[in-house]
Amino acid sequence: MTIDYDPFSHAAMQDPTPVYAALRRQGKPYFIEQYNAWALTKFEDVWTVSVNHESDMTFTRGVTPGQVLLDDPVPHAFTTMDGRDHRRWRGLVRDTYTPPAVKAETERFRALTCEVLEPLLSQGRLDVYQDLANRIFCLNSGYNLGLPKEDAITWRKLIDEMLHRDIGQKGGGSERNQMAAGELYGYLADYVARIRKNPDLASGHTATYMSAEIDGVKLDDEALTHLLFNFLVVGSETTPMVCGGTIYYLAKHPEQKKAVLADRSLIKNAFLETCRYDQPTNMLCRRVTKDFELSGSQIREGQNLLLIYASANRDEEVFENPDVYDIYRENKRNLSFGIGGHVCLGMHLAVMGGIVILEELLDAVGDYELLEDECERAYGEHLSGFIKVPIQFQR
Ligand code: HEM
Repeated sequence: MTIDYDPFSHAAMQDPTPVYAALRRQGKPYFIEQYNAWALTKFEDVWTVSVNHESDMTFTRGVTPGQVLLDDPVPHAFTTMDGRDHRRWRGLVRDTYTPPAVKAETERFRALTCEVLEPLLSQGRLDVYQDLANRIFCLNSGYNLGLPKEDAITWRKLIDEMLHRDIGQKGGGSERNQMAAGELYGYLADYVARIRKNPDLASGHTATYMSAEIDGVKLDDEALTHLLFNFLVVGSETTPMVCGGTIYYLAKHPEQKKAVLADRSLIKNAFLETCRYDQPTNMLCRRVTKDFELSGSQIREGQNLLLIYASANRDEEVFENPDVYDIYRENKRNLSFGIGGHVCLGMHLAVMGGIVILEELLDAVGDYELLEDECERAYGEHLSGFIKVPIQFQR
């Protein structure tokens, strides 16, 4: 069977699950001529490339499909640095994201969750992504960066606009995306200008990066703005999709929902199973800098790689019944947060935050009814998952 896979095609942006299954059946990387790119859909291929070939690839050409395959602009942040530079700039905030550091933040995060949740409860319905989880994670990213809380709605709306894709749109280059990106950049640039004038106003990661110096290099205003931009975006979209997805899939599996409602310790399993089953970071990309061989394919310098996590996490050679949502599954090896030097910095925060939001929500509403007709999924090549999950409940 001939497979025609284009990550920017309408079919792939709407639901890539069938094409990923077909590509996995081929058992090897799939070359996409028009993007000079190899699509890696098998778990072992994504894992091997991340762990063994990091020094044969560069992150400086970007990491999203739009950046690497279509030359969308690349923000200059540690996420788009290689090797030692990457380790040192990432290392400046690494301590904030370790398991003990995240644990120490749990009660603050819980208080933030309750503050957002409480006013929603009297209505008898809420949208788990829009009203709750996305708001909380935006506020939390803002807190980590030291941004004024009252501006959260502004940046949240701009991020949504930036990630919006019209039907058939390739990459993030539409006028709507560019205007939102420009406005968000402008907002953060103003903030950087304000704290440069008055450094006492800076807190969190912003204060750390503003004063940091590595090999005599200090971040100028533009680089600092890029970094804040990057943090704000990566910290606010993915985890809320998993929270919404967990509520959605539990509703579709009443036995598992009943078990979670009876035993809160299962919430973590449910959250992690949603990460696997409906991976929010559909794929990330790299540019190859040195030739190497992968599962019988010759990967050449200058070619691009698509690391398709959403497919790897459904690989039937690694997961039994991968297309079944099962909160009792033991995910011994998992690619939900990537692996290697660029492994997700926020993974412990994501798990802690996801669990707290789901705990507080289920404690407050108990059993709930999913308003399935009103649910909506993200459409696009990069992020994947639910962006509207309305439920109704009687407290
Ligand atoms: C369920 C939620 C999340 C998922 C599934 C997820 C997934 C990922 C994945 C797959 C990567 C790429 C890893 C690689 O290239 O090997 C990544 C990178 C990253 N994530 Fe997450 N992420 C989540 C939440 C968060 C949160 C809440 C933050 C907040 C700070 C965050 C910050 C980052 C950063 C900064 C990177 C780039 C790391 C680097 O290049 O050194 N993520 N994430």
